[in-house]
Amino acid sequence: MINFLLDLKTRIHFGKDSVKNLKQELYPYKKILLVLGSGSVKKFGIYDAVKKELSDAGLEIFELDGVKPNPSVDLVYEGIGICRNNSIEFILALGGGSVIDTAKAIAVGVPYLGDVWELFIDESRITNALSTGAILTLAATGSESNRNSVITNEKTTEKLGIHHDCLRPQFAIMDPSYTFSLPPVQTAAGVADIMAHVFEQYFSPTKDAYMANRMAESVLKTCIKYGALLLKDPENYEARAEIMWASTIALNGLLGAGKIGDWASHMLEHELSAYYDLNHGVGLAILFPNWMKHVIDDSKLWKYREYAVNVWDLPEGMNDMQLAEAAIAKTREFFIKLNLPARLSEVGIDDKYFETMAENLIKRGKLGSFKVLNKEDIISIYKMSN
Ligand code: NZQ
Ligand code: ZN
Repeated sequence: MINFLLDLKTRIHFGKDSVKNLKQELYPYKKILLVLGSGSVKKFGIYDAVKKELSDAGLEIFELDGVKPNPSVDLVYEGIGICRNNSIEFILALGGGSVIDTAKAIAVGVPYLGDVWELFIDESRITNALSTGAILTLAATGSESNRNSVITNEKTTEKLGIHHDCLRPQFAIMDPSYTFSLPPVQTAAGVADIMAHVFEQYFSPTKDAYMANRMAESVLKTCIKYGALLLKDPENYEARAEIMWASTIALNGLLGAGKIGDWASHMLEHELSAYYDLNHGVGLAILFPNWMKHVIDDSKLWKYREYAVNVWDLPEGMNDMQLAEAAIAKTREFFIKLNLPARLSEVGIDDKYFETMAENLIKRGKLGSFKVLNKEDIISIYKMSN
């Protein structure tokens, strides 16, 4: 195991009616900014429940709505303006990863004297942020308790992430019934994203870290069991709860503690989203099995064996290469079972920008650790996915 620092500061209120804890969490504040998406929470009554708690708390509430998937830096600028003009003390996100990431980007932008996008270009400039909280409506990114925010700049065609402990929300309200209303594709894309977060940390060059690997396998098995069930039974509370908790555990830092993560597939997907406004989880479902195929070599077969036997219950008697191929096939079959596309062409993406995207990625520095990818590797993975 390698050394690590882990500060899991987010208080998690998990379960039915956990929104009732909002008042106590917001007790120290008078003025807050509520950040929202494009209307789903209003359609399904979640917004009313939250507003009731906020007005009972006697808070002055400013609202910023209209956050879109692949959230834009333009709305972040607007939020920073609202906060500065009204001396906002706290930012509350109500939504999925895009809304939470927008809230975090505003929070870090308010005290920063320059253009907030500079922080995305060079995250070492981040020092502090306003406090945030999250009310989660989509299980996927883990943003509700992690130290990341991912924002798109349409003008420069860049989708970039920042990472800093000051971005961890102070609290997360996680009521699984808030995810009953998700369309099947968002549920499925969320499950694929959760699994992808685990893969990024599971397929690691760090050979030991036994416990982290077993925990990772449990999260994957949970996604496989309950992800498929949810498509048939979207209002199954237990299944929603398992997937919601899996989303947090997959990316709050626990599974990556003591090991080196890979994260190349995420970077390949973020480029696709920057150019094509692709759903993040859909992109990962298309790319990941191809990344698994591309990076395989004899020195890595031990990891594929673990994955095949411990996650997919494939027979240990098969040889290493057979096991690896069978496990990759199982991964693809599972994503297809979730009705997720298997090819970029199915989501209207052709090879026009493969070369440009690969160049962008290489320019930003080392890509991957389980296998370090060069430009040709990236183009091959995109082509395999086409
Ligand atoms: O905008 P509304 O109307 O709310 O609709 C949203 C949106 O269209 C809808 N939705 C959310 N909750 C719902 C609901 N519809 C019905 N019922 C509900 N309860 O779902 C759509 C997608 O929402 P979004 O927030 O974009 O999805 P997700 O949570 O998957 O977030 C994706 C974004 O997070 C980034 C991704 O790149 C992408 O930009 N990521 C953030 C990470 C992080 N902060 O740690 C890590 C991830 O790897 C990822 O990169
Ligand atoms: Zn992700």
